Amino acid sequence: ADPDPLQDFCIADLKGTISVNGFPCKLASNVTSDDFFFDGLSQEGSTNNSFGSSVTQGNVLAFPGLNTLGISMNRVDIAPGGLNPPHSHPRAAESGILVQGKLLVGLLTTGNVFYSKNLTAGQMFVIPRGLVHFQLNVGQEKALIFTAFNSHLPGAVVLPLNLFASTPSVPDNVLTKAFQVEQTVIDEIKSKFGG
Ligand code: GLV
Ligand code: MN
Repeated sequence: ADPDPLQDFCIADLKGTISVNGFPCKLASNVTSDDFFFDGLSQEGSTNNSFGSSVTQGNVLAFPGLNTLGISMNRVDIAPGGLNPPHSHPRAAESGILVQGKLLVGLLTTGNVFYSKNLTAGQMFVIPRGLVHFQLNVGQEKALIFTAFNSHLPGAVVLPLNLFASTPSVPDNVLTKAFQVEQTVIDEIKSKFGG
């Protein structure tokens, strides 16, 4: 989904002082082999949190060699019973492969149609750009997924955090009206996310 590059590579200078659509390139004379390799997805992320899951991002901010190339990857670790909560990526389609475990992958269309499937190791899924999706570990062991995106910075809108843990917070009367519930329900949800 990103624009085509205009050169072989453009290793991001993340500290560049100009703001463009992407990052400025590091001087070619300063580029080394290390700029084309990244080991940030080699470690298991901690799933010791309320969702029981962890997304380790391999986007341009973590791996500057991806700058302008229109691709990136994540590693997702999910404990038994854990959930990578409903979220969407505004700038990319996602594909993924389940490397280990048993996983329910679900996605929702703009017309509120729900599609899902239980996956076993080696199976792949695709999430069209911008659609809300989740992954739930339905097995007894940990689940491991690697996901791939057609953007160097796909972005992630995590629905529960977006609506209930924003800065500043969304007005309570918007949330009570939107979800057709009493204030106490909104208070309880906000309290789970430190609100
Ligand atoms: C999984 O959905 C991911 O965004 O990596
Ligand atoms: Mn995703």
